[in-house]
Amino acid sequence: MINKKIEKALNRQVVLEAEASQYYLAMASWAENNGYNGVAAFFYRHSDEERIHMLKLIKYINERGGCAEISALSKPRAHFSSLNDIFQDLLKQEITVSGEINDLIEICLKEKDYTTHNFLQWYVAEQIEEEALARTMLDKLKLIGSDKGGLYLFDRDLSTFQASPSGDGNKA
Ligand code: FEO
Repeated sequence: MINKKIEKALNRQVVLEAEASQYYLAMASWAENNGYNGVAAFFYRHSDEERIHMLKLIKYINERGGCAEISALSKPRAHFSSLNDIFQDLLKQEITVSGEINDLIEICLKEKDYTTHNFLQWYVAEQIEEEALARTMLDKLKLIGSDKGGLYLFDRDLSTFQASPSGDGNKA
């Protein structure tokens, strides 16, 4: 059984994962409307993965005797100036989520909730991967610069690129 503090902290994480899903959906839509269909496919998949992260939390909260809350979400940013802009935002978003996961881990230790601490290790590993992925994409874009052929190939490669090696967010 989780206590109220843990329940509240996990419910906050539910909102963050749901918002991440919405942010990436907005990015996918922008990319689709700006001729980057590969980047759009990447963000649509990434959005689905964040939804899985959210569902995993909801199920955990309910299974452990808590009550998962489904909250209103903030409106995501809809316009971007470039692919670099979009991937900078992706990195910023993932860094924020990593910080929140770390805070959650700290709460678990304070509350001596080792079961939830164990459950969250999957998220810790996921965040390392997601931050690294965003940095890799930014490095690639830096190399490409304004080369149109390079941007074409970058977009094409992303159409089949898996945001997470497992692809299903369930590799725990
Ligand atoms: Fe589930 Fe990308 O944080």
